[in-house]
Amino acid sequence: MRIHVVDHPLVAHKLTTLRDKRTDSPTFRRLADELVTLLAYEATRDVRTERVDIETPVTATTGVRLSHPRPMVVPILRAGLGMLDGMVRLLPTAEVGFMGMVRNEETYEAQTYATRMPDDLSGRQVYVVDPMLATGGTLVAAIRELIKRGADDVTAICLLAAPEGVEVMERELAGAPVTVVTAAVDERLNSARYIVPGLGDAGDRMYGTA
Ligand code: URA
Repeated sequence: MRIHVVDHPLVAHKLTTLRDKRTDSPTFRRLADELVTLLAYEATRDVRTERVDIETPVTATTGVRLSHPRPMVVPILRAGLGMLDGMVRLLPTAEVGFMGMVRNEETYEAQTYATRMPDDLSGRQVYVVDPMLATGGTLVAAIRELIKRGADDVTAICLLAAPEGVEVMERELAGAPVTVVTAAVDERLNSARYIVPGLGDAGDRMYGTA
């Protein structure tokens, strides 16, 4: 597993406003969307392409287009849904799958309550989006499922990560074709498994349920 922390002043600026507890839900959603697009730009650096012959108004030339099978974007419900628009803005031809996962607040284990995506993901590049890489339990379970279905290149895009979650991913997905792209790796998790300093509950802040 590889991790890529995107070091860019616009990313840092938007992340700081997301962290601020005074930021209201509409602003939070808009900034999360903008931040995802910046992270997606970095995360798709290795998206597969194929050569294509075209004609400009002036002459024939060759270029590239995204290859088949099309990349797949998989938001993890609920909070990952707030990252979907930002992803498909850059990858409008991507197919979209869904995974509904919830963290058991007593055991902190990830439980899957819904899955909607092709059974066969052979040869697919998959971009799985979930705002917070906290304990790593949800992402490890989601990525294992994607690899089980044949995905051969998985990139997880997270707004924020905790070192504990990164360590779990590195241990549980050692040697797997997985990259994590995030805006920052914070200090630690607290006893309630929230990221510190973090930004609070991403789903609640996105959907105004805090
Ligand atoms: N999920 C969140 O939304 N926030 C955290 O800090 C950790 C997990």
